[in-house]
Amino acid sequence: MTAAVLTTDRLTLRGWHDSDRAAFHALNSDERVMATIGPVMSRGESDAFMNRIMRHVADHGYGVWCVELAGESIGYTGFMIPWFRDGVEIGWRIRSDHWGRGIAPEAARVCLRHGFDVLDFDEVLSFTSETNTSSRRVMEKIGMAHDPAGDFDHPGVPASSPLRPHVLYRLDRGRWEARTGETVDAHRNGYRDRS
Ligand SMILES: CC(C)(COP(=O)(O)OP(=O)(O)OC[C@H]1O[C@@H](n2cnc3c(N)ncnc32)[C@H](O)[C@@H]1OP(=O)(O)O)[C@@H](O)C(=O)NCCC(=O)NCCS
Repeated sequence: MTAAVLTTDRLTLRGWHDSDRAAFHALNSDERVMATIGPVMSRGESDAFMNRIMRHVADHGYGVWCVELAGESIGYTGFMIPWFRDGVEIGWRIRSDHWGRGIAPEAARVCLRHGFDVLDFDEVLSFTSETNTSSRRVMEKIGMAHDPAGDFDHPGVPASSPLRPHVLYRLDRGRWEARTGETVDAHRNGYRDRS
């Protein structure tokens, strides 16, 4: 199976090609990007991650899309089935020189529309380390609600790491449908440079 191509005013979300591997490694080896996630990745680790993404799409028909801006691969947004719990997770990782322009929420919204309207999800989860305020802001902007009862220690993060405590956010179909069409973040989509 292959992933659908999704588009927004600025972005194209598409499947992955081997030619994306260098840009993907640049993303995954950027210390700013990885500061709230874990160690920076070697080229081999980044390639293995892309292989897992490609396999997820082949197995399930959806996954994490390559986010393209003006023909350049600048990160990812999309869905994954967590290996340690039930449910479907939405996640994002954007090149640091493009932060603060509302790209992650713009990409996430088109993924959610696809998730609820086409893939027929009933609920989408998201989680991140407690201190990852940027990612938590994206969750809030797209209408997800923090579920403190679901907060957990991520089993993939070493017990000694300050990144282990994770917060859980949820968005169910009813809440999504109630928010569809909202434009809270529209003012951010003017590609304003904050760097
Ligand atoms: C989280 C992330 C995807 C957000 O992407 P984005 O396209 O910058 O999203 P937004 O423009 O909506 O910004 C979201 C928040 O990031 C923070 N932010 C924005 N610009 C920033 C910058 N230049 N430097 C640091 N943080 C910044 C702000 O808190 C912002 O919230 P605000 O708009 O209320 O001020 C991006 O910061 C990233 O890739 N981080 C590293 C990877 C990561 O943490 N992924 C999630 C793991 S669960």
